Amino acid sequence: MPLNNLDPQNTEPQVTTPERYHGFSIFMHWLMVPLVLGLFSVGFWMVDLTYYSAWYKTAPHYHKSVGILLAVLLLLRLIVLFKKRKPAPIVTHSKAVQGVSKLTHALLYMLLVIIVMSGYLISTADNRGIEVFNWFVVPGFGEFFEQQADRAGLVHQWLAYSLIGLVVLHALGALKHHFVDKDATLKRMWWTKSNNSTEEKL
Ligand code: HEM
Repeated sequence: MPLNNLDPQNTEPQVTTPERYHGFSIFMHWLMVPLVLGLFSVGFWMVDLTYYSAWYKTAPHYHKSVGILLAVLLLLRLIVLFKKRKPAPIVTHSKAVQGVSKLTHALLYMLLVIIVMSGYLISTADNRGIEVFNWFVVPGFGEFFEQQADRAGLVHQWLAYSLIGLVVLHALGALKHHFVDKDATLKRMWWTKSNNSTEEKL
C-alpha cells in the first residue's frame, strides 16, 4: 500500500500531496458554513412571511444577494479544488470510509451548484435581474422552460433540505473522526500544523 504524508513510517521527502487542505480552501470551507446555514434558515423562514411583514421584500433581497455571493465563492472554490492538490486519504480510513467521504464531498458540491442555479432560475423567470445588495444587477433572461419559477422552486426547496441533511451527517462524521478515532481529519481542514507537518505545496 502506498505510504502517505500522515503515515509515521513515511520518511520520504514530501513533495506530492500536502498534509492539509490548501489555505484558501480551508478559508472557503469555513466561510461557506455560516453562509449556507444562514441562507437555509432565512429561506425557510421567509417563505411564510405575509405581505404585511416588514421583511416581506427585504428578506428575499438579502437571501438572493447572499446566494449570488455564495455562487461566486463556490466558483472560486471549485477552481482552486481543480488546481491545487488535496491531501491524500488518511491511511487508517478503510476503503469504504474513503469512498463514502469522496461521494459525500462530490454530492455536497453538486447540491450547492444545483441549488444556486435553481435559485437563479426562480428569481429571473419573470425577466427581472437579481439586485445584489443594491451594488449591481445580475441580468435575467426570462423563462428557459415552462413554469420555470415553480419547477425550479421545487428543486431548490428539496435539494436545500437534502443538503442540510447531508451536512449534518458530514459534520457528525468529521466530529467522530476527531473525538472518537482521534485522527487528523478535522485538523487538516484547519490552518494549524500537526506535529509531523511538512511545508504544504501551495
Ligand atoms: C454548510 C456546511 C458545510 C458544507 C457545505 C461542507 C462542505 C464540504 C466539502 C464540499 C468538503 C470537501 C472539500 C474538498 O475536498 O474540496 C468538505 C470537507 C470537510 N468538511 Fe465540510 N462542509 C460543511 C460543514 C462542515 C462542518 C460543520 C464540519 C465539522 C464539524 C466540516 C468538516 C469537514 C472536514 C473535516 C472536511 C475534510 C474531510 C477530509 O479530509 O476527508 N464541514 N466539506
